[in-house]
Amino acid sequence: MNLIKANGYKDLSRKAANVISAQVILKPNSILGLATGSTPVGTYEQLIEWYQKGDIDFSRVTSVNLDEYYGLSPENSQSYRFFMNQHFFEHINIKPENTNVPNGLAGNPEEECERYEKVIADLGGIDLQLLGIGHNGHIGFNEPNISFEKTTHVVELDDTTRKANARFFESLDEVPKKAITMGIKSIMQSKKILLVANGPDKQDIIQKAIFGPVTPEIPASILQFHPDLTVVYSFE
Ligand code: F6R
Repeated sequence: MNLIKANGYKDLSRKAANVISAQVILKPNSILGLATGSTPVGTYEQLIEWYQKGDIDFSRVTSVNLDEYYGLSPENSQSYRFFMNQHFFEHINIKPENTNVPNGLAGNPEEECERYEKVIADLGGIDLQLLGIGHNGHIGFNEPNISFEKTTHVVELDDTTRKANARFFESLDEVPKKAITMGIKSIMQSKKILLVANGPDKQDIIQKAIFGPVTPEIPASILQFHPDLTVVYSFE
């Protein structure tokens, strides 16, 4: 495991972007696993800046995102597809058809999960998966006590998760009740993992996840078993 301490959010974003940039420079046709949430936003901004300077080329990169709300269209500003377009894809030269996010409007969500796993398998697996971490140790939408054996699956969002995310919606009623997420097994199959954690409120969960017992109570703790894990953190 590679633990990289950063000095504040800007530094964390630059260090995380460095890892992704190195991956893309060494393997221009990389398969990047991407995440939404507030933490990676600065990382995407840094990558966009380097792209604009001509230092990094995404034209042969393929991306697969971790998760998506079920029931939200790509045009809905709260969908993760919208987030990725807005914060990253529209600003770089990745081909839109090479960007993958689970389809939140799929008629049959179970079938969509199977399709998504097949997309990842057909790409030959993920080279580098970027992850954030929730305060309860969730990664993707894999909440505590999820089976480590799951691949992409449908999750029922519990009330605490819906309430935590309600701030982004007009009302709690509008927060979707389900989501599609890569499972722990899909995540663990990535060749490399880059976990980013920012702020004093993430210190406790990072300590538990990285140095505590590996337990489904803290889904991210399984990452201790990954052979190529890099954690970039700043608790300032
Ligand atoms: C995002 C995702 C979530 C977030 C996590 C941390 O696609 O799957 O697991 O990574 O909730 O979110 P932030 O970065 O907002 O603290």
